[in-house]
Amino acid sequence: MYRTKTNGELRLSDAGTTVTLAGWVQRTRKFGGMTFVDLRDRYGITQLVFNEEHDASLCEQANKLGREWVIQVIGEVSERSNKNPNIPTGDIEILVKTLNILNESITPPFTIEDNSDGGDDIRMKYRYLDIRRSCVRQNLELRHKFAFEVRRYLDEQGFLEIETPILVNSTPEGARDFVVPSRMNPGQFYALPQSPQTLKQLLMVAGMDRYFQIVKCFRDEDLRADRQPEFTQIDCEMSYVEQEDILQMFEGMSRHLFKAIKGIDIPALPRMTWADAMKNYGSDKPDTRFGMTFVELKNNQPDNASREIVESIFPAGFTVFDEAAYIGAICCEGQAVYTRKQIDQLTDFVKRPQIGAKGLVYARVQEDGSVKSSVDKFYTPETLEVLKNKMNAKAGDLILILSGSDAMKVRKQLCELRLEMGSRMGLRDKSKYSCLWVIDFPMYEWSDEEQRLMAMHHPFTSPKPEDIPLLDTDPASVRANAYDMVVNGVEVGGGSIRIHDAKLQQKIFEILGFTPEQAQQKFGFLMNAFKYGAPPHGGLAYGLDRFVSLFAELDSIRDCIAFPKNNSGRDVMLDAPGFIDQSQLDELCLQVALPAEEK
Ligand code: AMO
Repeated sequence: MYRTKTNGELRLSDAGTTVTLAGWVQRTRKFGGMTFVDLRDRYGITQLVFNEEHDASLCEQANKLGREWVIQVIGEVSERSNKNPNIPTGDIEILVKTLNILNESITPPFTIEDNSDGGDDIRMKYRYLDIRRSCVRQNLELRHKFAFEVRRYLDEQGFLEIETPILVNSTPEGARDFVVPSRMNPGQFYALPQSPQTLKQLLMVAGMDRYFQIVKCFRDEDLRADRQPEFTQIDCEMSYVEQEDILQMFEGMSRHLFKAIKGIDIPALPRMTWADAMKNYGSDKPDTRFGMTFVELKNNQPDNASREIVESIFPAGFTVFDEAAYIGAICCEGQAVYTRKQIDQLTDFVKRPQIGAKGLVYARVQEDGSVKSSVDKFYTPETLEVLKNKMNAKAGDLILILSGSDAMKVRKQLCELRLEMGSRMGLRDKSKYSCLWVIDFPMYEWSDEEQRLMAMHHPFTSPKPEDIPLLDTDPASVRANAYDMVVNGVEVGGGSIRIHDAKLQQKIFEILGFTPEQAQQKFGFLMNAFKYGAPPHGGLAYGLDRFVSLFAELDSIRDCIAFPKNNSGRDVMLDAPGFIDQSQLDELCLQVALPAEEK
């Protein structure tokens, strides 16, 4: 037996027993005639002691151990005189009698400890060493537990886990596809699924009325902290359901996960319409851990988020506000102490190209209640008093105002500012959770790039029945039976009730600009299947990586993925993607024309 115990389990009650342990040498320390070794495995760290007085040659052997050598020891568990309260095995140590070196290690490129000296790149290159660190390992353990509890819950609810193929045709989820050439069908390509969307709908036609799958999805899109080119969905679909049934079922799953994994009882999830989310938070995934909601000081541009016209509270005088279609503001409680320099930093923040605001107007409510602002010269104290009242601001508060010609653009800028202030004010504690449903998404959004309406969710999403007549007159205002679950400002999941009527589906394709022939060619398999008695159905998919990284309180989903890709979509450990041999290319009938700099 290589080991009788792990390095995480021995306690004072084990003192006096003889054990065999195996693991990696985390570090060795020499004190006089004693050598101490920290032995690590997946379960923890146990201190080994070698005593020169008891066995000089054994101690000499121990002194030669290098970092990350793999060893096996036999010894007696003994109470430590110098206890370490920071680790569960800190009350004991092993008085080693036998030492076997199972394997040597070259010096690792970084220290394998929680506070490693290795930067991101080197740790990704040697990810198998990085995973030995307990902070990374714990994230993978959490991920396992999460997936396990998902399966437990869905199994109890009668869901079947059914695998769908990875080599498929393009699925319309809005991102670029990863494609795989087919050797047996020269010139033809499979696409990797962006999600199993159409397949799970076919499973509903097939009568598998509660389906789920924890499944890899692939999207060739620009990467961010919450996006990977291959990621994992908890993909679900149900038949004979309305939106309410889905929301109840998956609210139940979230409640189960929070309770089973984090020990947290989450309250019933509030529901916010997409329009309110955009109007009050400038985002369809509002971070509701804190308030600081938007106040519209002017809006003469009714849109899907707000149909109400708001007259400006500011009389004419300041051209920027006079010309703006929308002026919105947030009130930052107690932040009137912000210095000029800090406000300049905020101004630079909103003017960054990624955010794109032209400038930032501020107003401080002073201790005596009077208002001091960056636009004092344009407005009377009475106007500033109106501002203060409209913002519900008190002495000590800081009002931040953005304006512009496109309400939606300004809302998004104000959203970034709100999040930045929330972070600065310590209101975005990762260990606090605020979950909600965002519902009533618009069916379509206008794409400047494509110059046409695009499905906001996907083309199989059903419109709200009461909005169906608007499909002919004002499609842009049609709302969908679609919903997202949002946790702490992260879209963890989303889905919709689907269209199960072939005629309505045809009409939706038309609005999206597909000719009947194009629709038939792309989605004929689905529309034909729907002719054979498709039940009403709907579903949703969670991003497993995103949900787990929220539970693990991580900044990036990369940290809960064993072997993630970097921001250029590369696996630096495998050095993938890579070139393939000419013979492989020939077999696939492929010719590669590289850009000049790659040759
Ligand atoms: P959607 O495209 O909203 O819906 O994806 C569902 C969830 O998957 C996660 N997600 C991602 N996670 C990591 N990296 C990515 N690149 C990435 N893209 C998406 C998000 C998101 O909420 N077929 C539909 C679902 C349905 O209608 O049933 C779909 O895929 O957490």
